[in-house]
Amino acid sequence: MKKFKLGGTTFLQQIGKPDERGISDSDAFVLVKTDQMLEFYRGLKEHNPKNIMEIGMYEGGSLVWYDKLYKPKKLVGLDLRREPIAALEAYKADHPHIETYYGRYQDKEGTRMAARQHFPTGIDLVVDDASHLYAQTKATFNMLFPMVRAGGHYIIEDWAWSFQPGQQGPDAVWADLPAMGNLALELTIMASQTNVIESVYIDRGLICVKKGAGVFKEEMFDLSGCLRGRELTLL
Ligand SMILES: C[S@@+](CC[C@H](N)C(=O)[O-])C[C@H]1O[C@@H](n2cnc3c(N)ncnc32)[C@H](O)[C@@H]1O
Repeated sequence: MKKFKLGGTTFLQQIGKPDERGISDSDAFVLVKTDQMLEFYRGLKEHNPKNIMEIGMYEGGSLVWYDKLYKPKKLVGLDLRREPIAALEAYKADHPHIETYYGRYQDKEGTRMAARQHFPTGIDLVVDDASHLYAQTKATFNMLFPMVRAGGHYIIEDWAWSFQPGQQGPDAVWADLPAMGNLALELTIMASQTNVIESVYIDRGLICVKKGAGVFKEEMFDLSGCLRGRELTLL
């Protein structure tokens, strides 16, 4: 476990299994990000994201880290966990630009409503670090990507789980579920078809879609017209 400070707050980088992680408290926030991810987010500073939404807060460490790193005007977090994150709620008390939603499933209408309410002029950065499942992640993308402003970024973390050794057997927890890699492929093909996607960056930890000009529509996921009659089979 690594430990570092930013803006007077201590962060504990804990990227192991959930049962090996701690909880955030008044001394330190737990942050589930690799060094490579942290470096990527630091690189986004040059784009100066001021309106930020994160899906999947865990122990609140990432939300507080974005707050220190980007100094946003509005920062919204949403998670299906019902129990409020005590350390984050205490931090929020004197950071009124932060809003948190608990007990919310990422792919339900409440996600779109929260985004509409807090970001009437558009979102600069969305981070989806929630379910890591194909259907839920795609449904969330369909709701939130239209609200990302041109030049803004949409990040999907931990997309590559299905390619890891522990996921190869028939008894793996998500053995019956489609890979998130499907979404990476769809977004990459989509980038060749429309300038609504300016670029797609992929590394082992995350996918980052940069929004281009134009209006995104869910129908853009129908790629049948550019596959030379072939099927895009779900991995
Ligand atoms: C990997 S953790 C997030 C880590 C955090 N972003 C960080 O970097 O420190 C995933 C979080 O997503 C939440 N989550 C999982 N499935 C979800 C869903 N369908 N909708 C909303 N939140 C979900 C979990 O409760 C958990 O808190």
